[in-house]
Amino acid sequence: MYRAQRLSLIPPYLFGEISRLKAQALAEGRDLIDLGIGDPDQPTPAPIVEKMAEFIRDPSTHPYDESPAGRVEFLEEAATWFKARFGVEVDPKTEMLQLIGSKEGLAHIVWATIDPGDVALVPDPAYTVVKVNTLLAGGTPHVFKLPAENGFLPDLDKIDSEAVKKAKIIYLNYPNNPTGAVATLDFFKKAVDWATETNTLIVHDCAYSEVCFDGYRAPSILQVDGAKNVAIEMHSLSKTFNMTGWRIGFAVGNPEAIRSLNTMKSNVDSKAFPAVALTAGWALNHADNSASLELIKRRRDILVDGLNELGWKIEKPKATFYVWAPVPSGHTSVSLAKLLLEDAGVLAIPGLGYGPYGDNFVRMSLTVNGDKNGERIREAVNRIKTKLDIRWDQ
Ligand SMILES: Cc1ncc(COP(=O)(O)O)c(C=O)c1O
Repeated sequence: MYRAQRLSLIPPYLFGEISRLKAQALAEGRDLIDLGIGDPDQPTPAPIVEKMAEFIRDPSTHPYDESPAGRVEFLEEAATWFKARFGVEVDPKTEMLQLIGSKEGLAHIVWATIDPGDVALVPDPAYTVVKVNTLLAGGTPHVFKLPAENGFLPDLDKIDSEAVKKAKIIYLNYPNNPTGAVATLDFFKKAVDWATETNTLIVHDCAYSEVCFDGYRAPSILQVDGAKNVAIEMHSLSKTFNMTGWRIGFAVGNPEAIRSLNTMKSNVDSKAFPAVALTAGWALNHADNSASLELIKRRRDILVDGLNELGWKIEKPKATFYVWAPVPSGHTSVSLAKLLLEDAGVLAIPGLGYGPYGDNFVRMSLTVNGDKNGERIREAVNRIKTKLDIRWDQ
């Protein structure tokens, strides 16, 4: 009775069996190495926390934020950071909007652009927020594949032309969750040309832009000439500074899309806690989280090198927290995840949870609670080696 029909459009939770096995293992007191969660295990860097303590003591941060698009100080700091990081000039007054994390921006840009009957083009595998909100908004998600053989970059010209005609938005996400793939500026240029021709708004999720290794630096789609005509990009401090619980990010790009998103948001939320916004603005241009990144990279090397020694063939991701590991023949992502959990006490996420094309992979996250210097990851590799009877090189 107290439930709208539209909630039944939300696809069923695919990790039910894995969650049950996890709960059972924990109840039995088994030592589980949880490679499931994509949430930094390290704390927010201390200087950020100290800055927050200053701002929270200032009573002017306590009431509603009545500004049009978020705290001006935050937006200006974000614009300064954007120019320094990507070399792109953006107007904080018309081309930026403060968000309560990028998830909020991704959900609301759908509600701000999709009417019943409209199509949203969504990748598979993918983070599911755009797809689910399209369903809730009465739209139709049309799925396009991210082929492994193309580095998980789509061939946009192969998307069904009838779907493209009805499409209002296309969702892209690089560096990518769950595959760990990265995009070149050349791909972004093709995407901008394609969006211009097809009159489609690109919603680019850039939540992992700062989680990069080995000197790699992820580009922004707004580095492409003309991108501001067709693209809006979501940024977040969550993964950059271990600030997932703080809920702060920003949208940047096409002014009309920014205005539509702001109209939607101003009827739903009353912005972030001003002390968080001011701290986040400061963090963007002053804070450093390289120690956390070093640790993630160390874990990545231990995991990928260790699994490859067993015969697995995995490339080291240049960015994100995720190792997207192919399942051996004879397995699905769910059967492998079950085996890993039951026999080795290692929790990985079945790729099927990110869409049918994810079913040949499991996602292992490098954010491992309780791991100080890679020793839990090493233990995970060791358990996979000694407890599982699988030939990975099949
Ligand atoms: C691809 C992707 N986008 C966006 C988010 C949301 O992050 P936040 O809302 O904390 O900015 C996540 C979180 O895991 C993610 O994986």
